[in-house]
Amino acid sequence: MNKTIILHADKLIKTYPSKTKQLKVLDSVSLDIMGKNISVIIGASGAGKSTLLHLLGGLDRPDTGKVLFDNENIFDHNDDKLARFRNKNVGFVFQFHHLLPEFTALENVAIPQMISGISYNSAIKRAKELIYSVGLSNRENHKPAELSGGEQQRVAVARALANDPAIIFADEPTGNLDSVNSEIINQIIVDLRDKLGKTFIIVTHNSDLVKLADDVFEMKDGKCKKRTS
Ligand SMILES: Nc1ncnc2c1ncn2[C@@H]1O[C@H](COP(=O)(O)OP(=O)(O)O)[C@@H](O)[C@H]1O
Ligand SMILES: [Mg+2]
Repeated sequence: MNKTIILHADKLIKTYPSKTKQLKVLDSVSLDIMGKNISVIIGASGAGKSTLLHLLGGLDRPDTGKVLFDNENIFDHNDDKLARFRNKNVGFVFQFHHLLPEFTALENVAIPQMISGISYNSAIKRAKELIYSVGLSNRENHKPAELSGGEQQRVAVARALANDPAIIFADEPTGNLDSVNSEIINQIIVDLRDKLGKTFIIVTHNSDLVKLADDVFEMKDGKCKKRTS
């Protein structure tokens, strides 16, 4: 399969203020993310994995450095344009699903589409397909509290796909799940790569997911190194 670089990070520096001195979490991180790959980011707690993920997805801005997507540095965009970049091109899955509790699974997947201007009927139609693709058609009218943790996370994956983004970011998506449910999520991720050519960038401690990843990036001391096998 033809694979090209979809996201290029160039010399990202990110510091957080702290009481004693500035905390340099990312110390000039550069990397290439290949399209249609599963890339995982590993490293100890506090190594800066979430910080890096948030920068790559345009959820936060670095002190200096670039993230290039479609030949543009996303940090050259103002906040509105950066939000449009996220809405169109990327989806996010977090450790805790952040589903809206008062809405059904189906509505949780439909709402991001309606925010992008898609009609209610079209959004629900696509939401039904996405809910089906994560194997939850028989649960589509359940609210999050009526779903198991694994099912909630599958809804979160379906929601991340709602606007058909090229790249899906996930921050410890199975961190809160048992091994059976983790395995189901991992299989969905692999299927989405293989069948739809989705690109995944995933922070994880799940050794099975690390094994099936195409690329593994390890963070330590503010640096990020690609593992060569
Ligand atoms: N908003 C913030 N303000 C100050 N310090 C932060 C902030 N976010 C993260 N940190 C600190 O930056 C370091 C890296 O955090 P994080 O990227 O969340 O690491 P990881 O995801 O690898 O556990 C940690 O020491 C954390 O306490
Ligand atoms: Mg984290």
